[in-house]
Amino acid sequence: MNRFLAYRLHDDSPDGRVAGRFTELRFDNLPPGDVLIRVAYSGINYKDALAAAGRNAIVRQYPRTGGIDLSGHVAASDDPRFREGDAVVVHGFGIGVDHDGGHAQYARVRGDWVMRLPEGLSPLEASTIGVAGYTAALALHWMEHNAMSPEQGPVVVSGATGGVGSMAVDILSARGYMVHAMSGKSAEHAYLRSLGAGEILSPEVASQPGKALEKAQWAGAIDTVGGPVLAWMMRTMQPNGVIASVGNAGSPQLDTTVLPLILRGVRLLGINANSPMALREAVWAKLAADYRPRRLATIGQVIDFDALPDAMDRMLSRATRGRLVVRMDNESPDLERGL
Ligand SMILES: NC(=O)c1ccc[n+]([C@@H]2O[C@H](COP(=O)([O-])OP(=O)(O)OC[C@H]3O[C@@H](n4cnc5c(N)ncnc54)[C@H](OP(=O)(O)O)[C@@H]3O)[C@@H](O)[C@H]2O)c1
Repeated sequence: MNRFLAYRLHDDSPDGRVAGRFTELRFDNLPPGDVLIRVAYSGINYKDALAAAGRNAIVRQYPRTGGIDLSGHVAASDDPRFREGDAVVVHGFGIGVDHDGGHAQYARVRGDWVMRLPEGLSPLEASTIGVAGYTAALALHWMEHNAMSPEQGPVVVSGATGGVGSMAVDILSARGYMVHAMSGKSAEHAYLRSLGAGEILSPEVASQPGKALEKAQWAGAIDTVGGPVLAWMMRTMQPNGVIASVGNAGSPQLDTTVLPLILRGVRLLGINANSPMALREAVWAKLAADYRPRRLATIGQVIDFDALPDAMDRMLSRATRGRLVVRMDNESPDLERGL
């Protein structure tokens, strides 16, 4: 089969706005690379939704197939490390941004970007984890490297119903941490408790500027929101508490003081999921073992390929929760219907 479907982002509309459309491609339309992958599942991440809406100048060259993470099976390989049929996962390295990504039934990428799935993780599990779960696990990996442990006290997670947030709540609670989930979605408290959140708090607690140091509450914090939420985390950390700054779904600004850093020894870690392959392999191995999420079936919602555009719109209007996983090897949406 040399014809397949991709969701391509274009900037050729008369008003210059970015718009996506389903397009039939052939293998020779794919970018160069050593490994051809038949995509089984592709995640939807906040960055994918921003890119599809033409926001934040994420994609700079069009047309582009979005999708920053994918799982599937090797269909052909010029790289001796991979054989036809190998189950693999690819995320980052510019896929879905500078290089065509996972929102297509086939992808061609460089062998250096491809990671064989760890033993015990299926493509569906790997895509439910996706960049979001990898990022949550990478945050925890570096936090524990900085001496955080469950005995030291609670860990607060912001944007808790999102992809990264949901994965963080699940993995932390499975590992014995007391998790306080911060979420603006009052209707999702039962969901957050089902992932293992012990307490739930509203982002309202962070909305007012406070003193440079406030009541010390948290041994750890994973922040996906930025802005006043991260500033509040800094001033409410316990001595030697560890913060992982992961995202800026609320704001990229940070208005704070150095006092939590120098008077309480708070450690502020930056987390970038686009990490070197050796670190990916180490963290994915943990995701298949000690950091294995328990609630993937609750966190993941599998949708068909033709539901992708609507799902990305809903994500930007904050109407999604957990991980949205696109089933790619389903029957193609009907080309005749002009999809
Ligand atoms: N550092 C990295 O390498 C890396 C990797 C992956 C993701 N990220 C970043 O992490 C963030 C989360 O990504 P995701 O894929 O988990 O996205 P997501 O599924 O859309 O989750 C984001 C969550 O943040 C909260 N939120 C959304 N808009 C907000 C706003 N305007 N103000 C305050 N809170 C808001 C919502 O949680 P509640 O409704 O529960 O409050 C939402 O569910 C994004 O900024 C993303 O770019 C970074």
